[in-house]
Amino acid sequence: LNSARESLYIVSQFAAGFFEDQLWNSADGKAIGLSYFKERGFREDIIKKFNLGYSPDVWDALTLEAVKNQHSEEFLEKTGLSIRNDKGKLYDRFRGRVMFPIHNFTGRVIGFGGRTLKTDKNVPKYVNSPESDIYHKSNVLYGLFHAKKAIRDQDNCYLVEGYADVLAVHQAYIENVVASSGTSLTIEQIKLIARFTQNVTILYDGDAAGIKASLRGLDMILEEGLNVKVVSFPDGDDPDSYMHKVGAGAFKTYIEEQRQDFILYKANILLAEAGKDPIKKAGIIRDIVESIAKIPDNIKASVFIKECSHLLEIEERVLLTELNAIKVAKS
Ligand code: CTP
Ligand code: MN
Ligand code: MN
Ligand code: MN
Ligand code: MN
Repeated sequence: LNSARESLYIVSQFAAGFFEDQLWNSADGKAIGLSYFKERGFREDIIKKFNLGYSPDVWDALTLEAVKNQHSEEFLEKTGLSIRNDKGKLYDRFRGRVMFPIHNFTGRVIGFGGRTLKTDKNVPKYVNSPESDIYHKSNVLYGLFHAKKAIRDQDNCYLVEGYADVLAVHQAYIENVVASSGTSLTIEQIKLIARFTQNVTILYDGDAAGIKASLRGLDMILEEGLNVKVVSFPDGDDPDSYMHKVGAGAFKTYIEEQRQDFILYKANILLAEAGKDPIKKAGIIRDIVESIAKIPDNIKASVFIKECSHLLEIEERVLLTELNAIKVAKS
């Protein structure tokens, strides 16, 4: 038993309880935090399920309450919940934000994301817990604890970018969803998904950054030997905004109908960029074969070559030659 780590878990759980209590029971929490979630369309059962909270807009509300409850300054600092100023005094990292506790896959609180309520562009939208002995950002998928059973049952994992996306997808009665949380997807996160399923469906934001991240993410997922599909959203929408726009039922239909395998997704994006330019089209073909070359299973790869051949109207033989050339170059 590692008692230092245990103390970090305990103070994190205390903080989650504090923020949640503030959201439901304090005047500001209700008027500012809870109404914020409700205005965004989140239901109370979802707000409760994810233990969402509110951090008071004062310097040291959590710090004072924690110390009063015999939590030591050392662990408050080590979790990053409190920060020491030049004068040696502790103050709260999270102030005046709605709080998303981050659980590990056994359900223990390991960190937080705090969203600002301000629209001021100079204020960072999210403040997150720093790395600590219990929180390693690159090894965590937000929502995994609440998703793992459904991921196994459905044999598929929806992958979204953000906290609010996870909530919104749950609100549409789809529970097999996790977020990479802004960090570009990591190998560790993919390996974590692979414990529960071999099938990933990417649901990233419909903006340029989201498209770029899905192209990168799908290559990484293929490289880990998993199957990957993609659902794209209209530019300016993410799963959260889209679900609230169209409603739960239509959202579910949308992701079922819009799901594309990775080749089709990639081809559509690249072909739209290239227009009619034949040189660019040749580049696209190479680019897609590059993705197929990442698939460790040769039989799977050959199935995708066949599909690619139909889609781009290129002879399979030509694609296979290209595939082998890429594989030789890599080995
Ligand atoms: N993120 C972050 N810090 C930021 C911006 C984003 O950590 N300054 C992470 C958060 O986990 C966020 C995710 O990246 O949920 C996706 O970012 P973005 O699409 O910008 O935010 P949304 O999740 O859409 O947030 P919201 O709907 O609340 O505006
Ligand atoms: Mn975004
Ligand atoms: Mn984003
Ligand atoms: Mn987003
Ligand atoms: Mn959003």
